[in-house]
Amino acid sequence: MEKIVSLSKRRGYVFQSSEIYGGLNGCWDYGPLGVELLRNVKEQWWQAMTSRVDVEGIDAAILMHPRVWEASGHVANFTDPMVDCKECKARFRADQIDDAMCGSPAYKGRKASKCQAEGKFTDARQFNLMFKTFIGPMEDNTSIVYLRPETAQGIFVNFLNVQSASRQKPPFGIAQIGKAFRNEINTKNFLFRTREFEQMEMQFFVKPGADEEWFAYWKAERLKWFLGLGMTKDKLQYHRHEPDKLAHYAKDAYDIEYEFPFGWGEIEGIHNRTDFDLSRHEEYSGKSMKYFDEQSKERFTPYIIETSAGASRSFMAFLVDAYREEEAPTADGKTETRVVLRLHPKLAPVKVGVFPLVNRDGMPEIAKKIEGAIRPHFRVFYDDSGAVGRRYRRQDEAGTPFCVTVDSQTLEDESVTVRERDSMRQARVGTDHLVGYIREKIHVA
Ligand code: GAP
Repeated sequence: MEKIVSLSKRRGYVFQSSEIYGGLNGCWDYGPLGVELLRNVKEQWWQAMTSRVDVEGIDAAILMHPRVWEASGHVANFTDPMVDCKECKARFRADQIDDAMCGSPAYKGRKASKCQAEGKFTDARQFNLMFKTFIGPMEDNTSIVYLRPETAQGIFVNFLNVQSASRQKPPFGIAQIGKAFRNEINTKNFLFRTREFEQMEMQFFVKPGADEEWFAYWKAERLKWFLGLGMTKDKLQYHRHEPDKLAHYAKDAYDIEYEFPFGWGEIEGIHNRTDFDLSRHEEYSGKSMKYFDEQSKERFTPYIIETSAGASRSFMAFLVDAYREEEAPTADGKTETRVVLRLHPKLAPVKVGVFPLVNRDGMPEIAKKIEGAIRPHFRVFYDDSGAVGRRYRRQDEAGTPFCVTVDSQTLEDESVTVRERDSMRQARVGTDHLVGYIREKIHVA
């Protein structure tokens, strides 16, 4: 993980939030390459969802009516048990003390469990993870609103709006990508558990009785999505929630887990939420959330199958999965270690690097022209500094799948060398069909 965090900073994937002020715990900024990778992850998800005839998109507000969070159960149940150290004032999740270290610099390297055994901790108290703020000029109990801790509720409350506007009938889904906020007690493992993050959630509304079939369908479909974007099969697994561990709303739930360097961790949850959400919103708002089927004249509260992925967690899983240190040949016949991000070409932030082999003989001018021709189609990076081998290494480390080099043969026949990041194989391609060649390669990858 340390190597990935350091590469992320060096190459402009992820920076600590407010770094010059010492950082803000649990918050991260995405740099020039990071923002592209994150957007590509979200774009692939959005495409996979909304290109279907049975899924509509939505973008709901982050701030919602406070009753939403009473109906959803978050005000009462979205809590973690927390203990405080009476001596150093550090705060821990009561169920994670075994993994935690003492917060005092005076006891560096000491396990928190030792402090607990010595009776330094308070009793456990429930701590609500929602961030509170105030709407309007008054800062009192009547103006409290919450930063949403999940995007899902914006979908539930809009179920009938979307259904009637789009004239969809169950089974159909509503997809949304957006920020969510949780005041996590212990943030940890880089982007894995943060206080501000993005979710990609899709809620699929089905007739009661059809829920188990759709649950199985979406569970399989969502794993396929990660595999289709090149994630290593052996590093993905399902984890079924035991009946006694199910969330208060769920009838069945599976996590898709990825094997991070620190162990297996959930990147997406697939939940059978039953009719819990719509029934609760009906109860709390006093408005019917039932669907009326014109043909069968039936009225029912749909069951919801939820697919809930973290965009930031998926980003991190794709980054970790792509990271390799490999032996590669050098120009003088030796070998060296190259760091390469084997990101799927659809996810790679920059698709093409363009280099003149040398900075003379008209090569830079031709290379600039090629860069200009590629730029409207793909993100491209022009590099003319240092030996060409070094330039390849820099692009390998940034995850760029293709590098185009203008050399002496280009001057003769207008062809260029296209070098592929993973195989390091090189092909000669005419400049007139370079864009088509790269597009095809990305498409079939
Ligand atoms: N609507 C259901 C829901 O929010 P969840 O399991 O709490 O379910 C879904 O969250 C996904 O959101 C997780 O699988 C994870 O990818 C992401 N996620 C949750 N909390 C997160 C956090 N503190 N930091 C980063 N990602 C988080």
